Amino acid sequence: MILIDIYDMAGWWTLLITLQVILGSAYFLWSKKSKKQYDPLCNGTAVEWKPRPLIEEDVIVEEPPTVGKIDENVINVGATSFLCLEKEESIMNSALNSLSKYGVGSCGPRGFYGTIDVHLELEERLAKFLEVEETCVYSYGFSTIASAIPAYAKKGDIIFADEKVWFAIQKGFDAARSTVRYYKHNDMENLEEMLSAATRKKELNPRRRAFLVAEAIYYNTGEMCPLKRIVELARKYKLRIILDESLSIGVLGKHGRGITEHLNVPREEIDLIVGSLEHSFATIGGFCAGTHYIVEHQRLSGLGYCFSASLPPMLTQAAISALDVLEARPDMLRELEACSRKLHAALTKLKHFSVSGDELSPVKHLYLKKEDLTDRLKHSYLRNVTNYCMEKGIAMSLAAYLRDVEHSCPEPSIRMASSRKLNDDNISLICKLLDEAYENVGPKPELQAL
Ligand SMILES: *[C@@H]1O[C@H](CO)[C@@H](O)[C@H](O)[C@H]1NC(C)=O
Ligand SMILES: *[C@@H]1O[C@H](CO)[C@@H](O)[C@H](O)[C@H]1NC(C)=O
Ligand SMILES: *[C@@H]1O[C@H](CO)[C@@H](O)[C@H](O)[C@H]1NC(C)=O
Repeated sequence: MILIDIYDMAGWWTLLITLQVILGSAYFLWSKKSKKQYDPLCNGTAVEWKPRPLIEEDVIVEEPPTVGKIDENVINVGATSFLCLEKEESIMNSALNSLSKYGVGSCGPRGFYGTIDVHLELEERLAKFLEVEETCVYSYGFSTIASAIPAYAKKGDIIFADEKVWFAIQKGFDAARSTVRYYKHNDMENLEEMLSAATRKKELNPRRRAFLVAEAIYYNTGEMCPLKRIVELARKYKLRIILDESLSIGVLGKHGRGITEHLNVPREEIDLIVGSLEHSFATIGGFCAGTHYIVEHQRLSGLGYCFSASLPPMLTQAAISALDVLEARPDMLRELEACSRKLHAALTKLKHFSVSGDELSPVKHLYLKKEDLTDRLKHSYLRNVTNYCMEKGIAMSLAAYLRDVEHSCPEPSIRMASSRKLNDDNISLICKLLDEAYENVGPKPELQAL
């Protein structure tokens, strides 16, 4: 009676454990269902998570480019394909052949299955074209210089740079975390003052690596850098030169080898040349050129090189074919040069716009001559001017900047790109339309004070 059978005991235990399991699971399921959404970035209270906008509202953001609307009958002075190679039959065919051979993507970074024969061929061809020991190809123009700078410059190093260098270079400085000193745009006296002051203060000393970063043709102003003087100063103060030749390779020089060829500066004087395949070569990607010793270093420390999928083979092939065309017909460069000069001369005669940029530079910037406007208003007027011109058959692009993020952000401007196919009629139409647009949508002249 009081004695409970040992077997009954075992039965009770089983029941207890089963009950516990059932209750436990029920609690688990219930608590999961009723759990509130917690904001991990907040203080733990249950709130609706509303992400902050990625872009603050008062940053001026470009509208999507008008490229989709551009047809054959529109003059395009917005695109930077200066040599008009994007429509070249032979290049398109070779790219298509490459597409059917390799498919679209390369499926891996260069060091991990992403190297295909065309990459090696392009690097070899570029090295031969530029007369350097070695080049390495990146898959995106922006990340080329943005990775190349931090591959060499580190925390503790010092960099001297022109204040108008474009955004990718500034991002490179951020990643390098070096001390950056900006000198006034193309002002060599200012640079020399800064260098000698830095030497006096022992900021420049033999134990510290120092760099000088400049662009051959500045994307933000169209001006050419005084390379000879830069090289002199760099040698005197023992700086290494990193030169961005994105807008000058395939543009300047007898064979299109860039500013070093144009100004007759030996290529060995420049420690690292960085170029882009996205302008004259009309494809995608960028490259670094220099001695084997310097370029090889990036294959393990250029982050954009190591960790991005390599350039799609068909775009790599397009660059090789573009080199073929350029080497076979260097007279293209003279056509481009003539057009750049003519466009420059015509733009300087505009009534309402001032122009910056070297005569030889294919990139020109147009600013409103009217001074007393805020940047925001200037941007808006220029936007309306470009829209007006687009409706009448000329595609132009506004220079886009991140006003609060960029160093020494340039004044709003229309960025014009000349190309070798512009003729006199086209150029005079461009100028006529610009002044006409200004009269129609530009700032109205103020009423005369009584
Ligand atoms: C936690 O955050 C919520 C929502 O942002 C806020 O209402 C609440 O006052 C905060 N509590 C504390 C203790 O900071
Ligand atoms: C540019 O000029 C050529 C030759 O005069 C002309 O055929 C072409 O239509 C012009 N382009 C535009 C968009 O007017
Ligand atoms: C530009 O055009 C838009 C639309 O027509 C207009 O709302 C805006 O006020 C114009 N901007 C200026 C500065 O006139």
